[in-house]
Amino acid sequence: MGFKIAILISGRGSNMNNIIEACNNKKLCSSVNLVVSNKSDAHGLKVASKYKIKTHILDGKNLATENFESLLDKILKKNNINLICLAGFMKILSKKFVKKWPKMILNIHPSILPYFKGLNAQKQAIENNAKYSGCTVHFVNEVMDGGEIIDQKIVNISTHDDEDSLSKKILMEEHKLYIKVLKRLEKNFGKGKQ
Ligand code: GAR
Repeated sequence: MGFKIAILISGRGSNMNNIIEACNNKKLCSSVNLVVSNKSDAHGLKVASKYKIKTHILDGKNLATENFESLLDKILKKNNINLICLAGFMKILSKKFVKKWPKMILNIHPSILPYFKGLNAQKQAIENNAKYSGCTVHFVNEVMDGGEIIDQKIVNISTHDDEDSLSKKILMEEHKLYIKVLKRLEKNFGKGKQ
């Protein structure tokens, strides 16, 4: 059974694009009904409009967290959203908000959590001379990058890799991993569990 998905972005939106494509190509039986950005200049907004998906800008800078989240909550409910996918959404959601959406918010992070949490995960991996990193899809709870891990994919780091080349390698795996996880959740959703 499919979800009515809202994707939250802050920038480029390649994971968003990939999820939209997977829904359109019926690799997934969900639909992307809404894209919300906390940045008015996020490139992903243009991409979403190209697919004729409803977009919303909630300016994270000019809105207090409480107002931002209460508006977000209203928009999500108005659009009957039952799954929220964070895809490069660089704003932390409060405990109050995530409690309203238990096991209904997913995030993708460019590292093997619990390693390299937070910003610039790929740079952290390079600077720490890690031999591998990767990506993680997890449920979002009140702890940043700390929610239950659903799945991960390891990426090897070669001596030639820098932040840029590693980010590219990880991103390719992110695109596959997010779809794999969504497929699995769709199956469980049909059985009434997530
Ligand atoms: C992705 O690498 C994603 O994992 C990362 O931002 C990038 C967004 O790319 N997210 C985080 O670092 C969250 N902590 P995209 O806009 O092309 O999907």
